[in-house]
Amino acid sequence: MFISDTHLPQLLPAKAYSDEGWYKQECEKVFHDAWWAIAFSVEFQNDGDFLTVDLPCGPVVLWQRDGVIRAFLNVCAHRLSRLTSKTKGCCDTLVCEYHGWEYAASGKTKRIPDAPSFRPLEKDGLGLRPLCVEVVGGIVFVSQIEGSPSIQSHLGQEETNRLCRRDRHPGRVIYQADLDIPVNWKVLVENNLESYHVGFVHRATLGEIPDGDLCTHKIIPGGSMFFGPGSSDVVSAAGRQVARQAHGEAESRYIHGIAYPTFMWTPEALGTSFQTVIPTGPKSCRIRWRILALQGERKRHLLNLLARCIAKVQAGFWRRVVNEDVEFLPSVQVGVESLMQPSEGLVSRREERIFHFQKWLANRIGYVKTNDFVGSA
Ligand code: FES
Ligand SMILES: [Fe+2]
Repeated sequence: MFISDTHLPQLLPAKAYSDEGWYKQECEKVFHDAWWAIAFSVEFQNDGDFLTVDLPCGPVVLWQRDGVIRAFLNVCAHRLSRLTSKTKGCCDTLVCEYHGWEYAASGKTKRIPDAPSFRPLEKDGLGLRPLCVEVVGGIVFVSQIEGSPSIQSHLGQEETNRLCRRDRHPGRVIYQADLDIPVNWKVLVENNLESYHVGFVHRATLGEIPDGDLCTHKIIPGGSMFFGPGSSDVVSAAGRQVARQAHGEAESRYIHGIAYPTFMWTPEALGTSFQTVIPTGPKSCRIRWRILALQGERKRHLLNLLARCIAKVQAGFWRRVVNEDVEFLPSVQVGVESLMQPSEGLVSRREERIFHFQKWLANRIGYVKTNDFVGSA
């Protein structure tokens, strides 16, 4: 069942989806204390493993040393070059690719080539800028400032428990991708918050939209959830069977959650999928997407193999669904960027999670909707 009895207003003006000034406000008031989901913790298998990502605050490197995953701005303290351009790797010291400054696990400089020419620089006088890291439910999150409201406080207790329940099982990452899309980040997020477009954009893959009575929306402290009927196809049924054998439980519903601004996840019978939408400009964004297949006890090789195979088939299916969105959404961007609009827009009950997202965002920005729509942005 939906929460609202009536349709809801579109709260954000069209210019929020393309305007430079609006985007700058989002950088200052929304992204500055966001938690960004970057990877699953199982991706850091060896001491020294690192991976990099570009966030609105700048390039970031996550690096595991002595069993601890730390994050730093991927910018060298010498002349501020990007430290490493590799997307991942393994090393004992991070070495800047420009003049070779070396950094230790603490982020302090370890070796500076031709050090005497920097006199009187003190040892440990310069280092990398540290960022905050949290691991929740096996997912590694990064925030640029100390003291950001925790990701758990966005999720609330029940959804934190749901996400962390999966920690009991080890997993394997079976799919990862960074997809660049020429649309404002909110176009992508809002598309994920409604099932209304399913019957049109995804008719070939997902079929008709689910009956409203079978869908439930739930508002959580810093986000929202969708619970709908799970797929009844043969692969999904087999997946649930394997999950029951391996873990003693199997999620049979389709669940989608968002923790604002852009962390979205789907717990499935055999795994967890997450997407973080990373804004790259007022008219572009990137989806960082990871799918993890849960694994049972180590000795159950066959069951684990089966779980991975089924999860991979399902991942292939979801890639087709996401590709349909990626191909279509630039059309939405064209419309919201248009200098004139036929109306200010309208949000149905089925799309009500969008309304709650926009309300949260408008609050953060300090934007108050006015009734002065005159047909232009
Ligand atoms: S900018 Fe990194 S060593 Fe010079
Ligand atoms: Fe979609």
